[in-house]
Amino acid sequence: MRILAIETSCDDTAVALLEATPTEEGTSFRVLGNSAFSQVALHQEYGGVFPTVAKREHARNLVPMLVAALTQGEMLESDTSTLPDLGDIFAREPELESAFNAFITTTKKPAIDAIAVTHGPGLAPALWVGVNFANALARVWNIPIVPINHMEGHMLAGLIDAKDKHEMHLATPTLPLLGLLISGGHTELVLMKEWLSYELIGKTRDDAVGEAFDKVARMLGLPYPGGPEISKLADAGRSNGGENPFTLPRPMITEDSCNFSWSGLKTSVLYLLKKQPHLSEEEREKLAEEFEDAVVEVLWKKTARAITQTDARMLALGGGVSANRQIRKVFTEKMAEEFPERLLSIPPAYLTTDNAVMIAIAGYYRMARGEVATTTTANANLVLAKA
Ligand code: KG4
Ligand code: ZN
Repeated sequence: MRILAIETSCDDTAVALLEATPTEEGTSFRVLGNSAFSQVALHQEYGGVFPTVAKREHARNLVPMLVAALTQGEMLESDTSTLPDLGDIFAREPELESAFNAFITTTKKPAIDAIAVTHGPGLAPALWVGVNFANALARVWNIPIVPINHMEGHMLAGLIDAKDKHEMHLATPTLPLLGLLISGGHTELVLMKEWLSYELIGKTRDDAVGEAFDKVARMLGLPYPGGPEISKLADAGRSNGGENPFTLPRPMITEDSCNFSWSGLKTSVLYLLKKQPHLSEEEREKLAEEFEDAVVEVLWKKTARAITQTDARMLALGGGVSANRQIRKVFTEKMAEEFPERLLSIPPAYLTTDNAVMIAIAGYYRMARGEVATTTTANANLVLAKA
């Protein structure tokens, strides 16, 4: 089965083309095409993602990303056809409409079976561009739409065993499976007792962990997105060794729950910088190191508590923050030490941040369950798991 996937929930315009083949112990995925345009440079001056810029850029880049993915998959063939009637699908996307019309009237329908599209959660204007694009393609090509929850994409990406960027395998996981989903918008512990059904075990009460990384980075004068920047500074601090002159709180670490809170940690950094505005480079590195250590310690303690509480047999990490080197290192060590008989899955870093491969993979499983539609709508507040 061949799936085309579209992801526009935040600041990446991503399109992927995957072929899924069931195997004895899971499913193999071949990535035929994978293209993405990152809008990061355009959002940097705002210090975060600016929704109207995101919408405009998705509208500009969707057709080029689709063309790139189809070209990689050797599935782009020209053909001429008349302009189909799309009703009001593009009523609010004039720029996308003209690019779409030029593409669709000159391109042959590729041999794909379905279109998976992220329909939430995310920024509403950004999501709608991808959803409308998918609705239009599905209508013209007469194939089903598979609406995908972005967080399910991150969760399933956490289970991928990638041989390289083209050959991937997803083995049927050992259940119950616990997912720690950490991104720019989410910090959640979710439990899969049954395949593809989710129960909420814990979540943040305020900021997402990625948001804390981004805000602290901004306080330190680092560019958006702040996660990778903090991580670099912290690594430098760690390799210099020595005592850390800073101590930050570990929010809610002793509280008897699997919930998180990151806003106090962020405020502590703010107060510290108000008291000591002129930090040396070495001090900045040590502060980043302490911030990262505080985050990792809390993430691990809460995850360990959740593993014990749910008796999960396997842990998977997902979401952009799980690209973090220190998190990957500490989780690998701690799992082996504290839960040696349980499994840990951490995907390659390029699959933890937003991408369309994970949406195609989720699309395959949802389609296999018959969860298809002719059109879909965006839902910015879609939730993956309820308590
Ligand atoms: O999953 P993602 O790409 O987009 C959302 O769905 O939000 O996650 C983006 C978040 C940003 O907050 C970014 O700063 C953070 O992931 N991030 C990292 C690292 N790489 C990305 N945080 C810490 N360390 C990293 N290496
Ligand atoms: Zn994401």
